[in-house]
Amino acid sequence: MTTSPDRFHILHLAACDSTSDYLRRQIARLDADFPLMVSADVQTAGRGREGRRWHSPEGLGIYATFGFHLDDGRALPLLSIAAGVAVIDMLQEWGGGTFSLKWPNDVLAEGRKAAGVLCETIVRGERVTCLAGIGVNLNQRRQDFPAELQHQAVSLRMLSGREWSVAEGRELLAAAFCRRLRQLSAGEADLVLERARELGRSFLGRQVRFRQGGKTWSGVCRGLADDGGFRLETPAGGETVLYSGEMID
Ligand code: BTN
Repeated sequence: MTTSPDRFHILHLAACDSTSDYLRRQIARLDADFPLMVSADVQTAGRGREGRRWHSPEGLGIYATFGFHLDDGRALPLLSIAAGVAVIDMLQEWGGGTFSLKWPNDVLAEGRKAAGVLCETIVRGERVTCLAGIGVNLNQRRQDFPAELQHQAVSLRMLSGREWSVAEGRELLAAAFCRRLRQLSAGEADLVLERARELGRSFLGRQVRFRQGGKTWSGVCRGLADDGGFRLETPAGGETVLYSGEMID
C-alpha cells in the first residue's frame, strides 16, 4: 500500500522557515534521499493545520517533516492516523505520560495539545509524495507558548517536571513512525487502527463539532472508519464519514 522504509535518512538544519516548506521546495534535489526526515532546531514560519501558525522556538520542540512516496494516494487518511499513533508510541516508550488521540492526529495530554501532525501531498504524474510534518512540544514552559495557547497547549516538561533531549526524541520518533508505516505496508493496518481506536476511545459517543473548510458539522463521534476516516452520526440519525478537517471539541 505504501513504500515501507527500513529507516528514514536524516537531514538536520539549524534553522528554516518550515521543514515541510523546505522539503517541498527542495524536493527535486532531495528525492534521491527518500525516505527522508528533515528536521530543524527552530522554524521561523512553522505551519499548523487550517492555516494556523505552529510556534517553533529554538530547542524547545521536535520540528520534523517525513517525506516518502506512496504507491496509492488512497492510503493517505490511514497514514495520517499512523503518524499520530507513532507520536504517542514514541512518547509512551520514552516515559512521557498518558496521551490520547483526537481525530485525525492531535496528541493530547490532560486535555491539552502536546503534538500535532500536518500531512500534505505532492502529486507529480503518477507519483504521490507524502510530507508528514510533526511538531512535538518537549521543553516549553507555560509562558513559552503564545498567550492565546497557554490554556490549550502542554509540553512533556510541563507534564513531567524535567527537560527532554530533542535529538533523542527525533530519533525515537523516526523509528516509531517507520514501524507504523511498515505495518501499513505489510497489510497490518488493523494494528494501527486498533491502537488509534484505543487512544481515541474517550471521544466515542460524545457530541462533537467538526470543522471542514468553512463548514462546521455537529454530531456524535462514532470513531474511526477502517480506511482512516472519521465517522460522525448526524442529527438526522444518518452517518457521514469525513476525510478532511478536524474535530474542534
Ligand atoms: C497542527 O496544526 O496540529 C499541525 C502542526 C504541525 C507542525 C509541524 S512542525 C514540523 C512541520 N513543519 C511545519 O511547518 N509544520 C509541521
